Amino acid sequence: MPEAAVDGLNLHQLLTWGRDHLWMQDRRASDLQTNGRYSIIVKAEGCYLYDIAGNKLIDGNSSGFVKAIGHRWPEIAEAVAGQLTTLAFAPISHGCATVPAIRLAKKIADLAPGSLNRTFFCGGGSEAVEIAIQLARQYQFLSGNTRKTKIISRRPEYHGSTYAAISIGSHGDRNNPIFEPLMPGVLQVDAPHCYRCPWGYRDRSPSDCCMLSVADLRNVIAAEGADTIAAFIATPFRVGSSLPSPDYWPQVRRICDENQILLIADEVTLAFGRAGTWFGMERFHIVPDIIVIGKGLTSGELPVGGLIAKQEIAEAFDQAKAGLGNFYHGVTFGSHAVVMAAGLKNLEIIEREGLVENSNKMGKYFHERVISKLRDNHPIVGEVFGGLGLILSIALVKNRRTRQAYPGGDEKGTFLFRLNELVRSNGLFVNMRHTTNIAPPLIATKAILDDIVDILDRSFSQIEREFPPED
Ligand SMILES: Cc1ncc(COP(=O)(O)O)c(C=O)c1O
Repeated sequence: MPEAAVDGLNLHQLLTWGRDHLWMQDRRASDLQTNGRYSIIVKAEGCYLYDIAGNKLIDGNSSGFVKAIGHRWPEIAEAVAGQLTTLAFAPISHGCATVPAIRLAKKIADLAPGSLNRTFFCGGGSEAVEIAIQLARQYQFLSGNTRKTKIISRRPEYHGSTYAAISIGSHGDRNNPIFEPLMPGVLQVDAPHCYRCPWGYRDRSPSDCCMLSVADLRNVIAAEGADTIAAFIATPFRVGSSLPSPDYWPQVRRICDENQILLIADEVTLAFGRAGTWFGMERFHIVPDIIVIGKGLTSGELPVGGLIAKQEIAEAFDQAKAGLGNFYHGVTFGSHAVVMAAGLKNLEIIEREGLVENSNKMGKYFHERVISKLRDNHPIVGEVFGGLGLILSIALVKNRRTRQAYPGGDEKGTFLFRLNELVRSNGLFVNMRHTTNIAPPLIATKAILDDIVDILDRSFSQIEREFPPED
């Protein structure tokens, strides 16, 4: 065990305190140290992370789709310090706006498509999803649609970890009986996914597959009654899934319009360049009524979430009778002045450095490389999803023909455990899963993308020797 000392603490002390006192998320505290690997990150720069043992790792997932601009930008530190020394905080929940909050809201209105032009800021993506649901319900209420309260979401889709977010989500084992009863009034339809078709087909075209999902949506609305449904929420394209065909979103938009159902796009992951456009829905040429944002808005320099609402929704609040026009949602740290300053600087960097264009260009390059070097050479690569911006997913299978995954989760002795070990020891920080998402920072160059592909190539060759695929 290396005896690195950080802040006067050696590795042993840090691991012990971390295991005993820090609640890790979605994993056990003991995972801080697995088989000689340490998940204590002490430094980051550009597209690289440095762990406590001195290993340099490519941040293959932008630290959870967050670090759009990559790591360590002194300009942001200066903007944050400047704001901290002028005004750190004024309570928007008590009626005080700040200059950086107004400027950031205006900037977002300039960037967002259509009439999406009023932003509510909060502390994270899950919270923003909750707020979007409440906004949709209050909007319907003050529009006279008092019965329109239900929310339709798609299965499987992740929208966060808070109560309403897990109630509308259906991802992994979050929706297990531990958290019952969940929020009532949630309906679900199957999301299109041609590779693992929820209806069991293997021979449908992407468009046919997507139209089954559209039909599902129509059926649920007809069965429940459009007059009971407030909103439909979904991500523009699901990470880990086939892209929707071009006719999917226009049809969904039409159905929502016909039934006065608000269309909420959850773009916590995609907004601000990840999809190769400022907003993910721009790829499908429709404008949602509400866009939920988060991660990329500050590139994780400070925590943030929010929603952008269409002018028509904002005006309905402006014109509502006294009382009803106040959106009933207050969060102390919404529009935090220092966070807003970080967001403004982050967007300035994204714009100035042409990172949306880079995401589009490098996204295409990366997708092609992953297909030609990994999918076409490795039988464990069942399929590669993506092609829109710097975000793609690789389905790993034991049998390409049947699309069957390797057994087990990522506990010791399994395919995934070993693959994670190989990938990490080869210098890539990515959580390898049966469907693995890769989304490097938007500053990524061809050289970094080539390195990621090479590391995966070497790791896949080794794992195929140790866990031979079947076909
Ligand atoms: C699509 C989507 N929505 C919502 C969330 C929740 O955001 P947060 O983790 O900031 O609460 C996430 C997080 O990964 C997400 O991917």
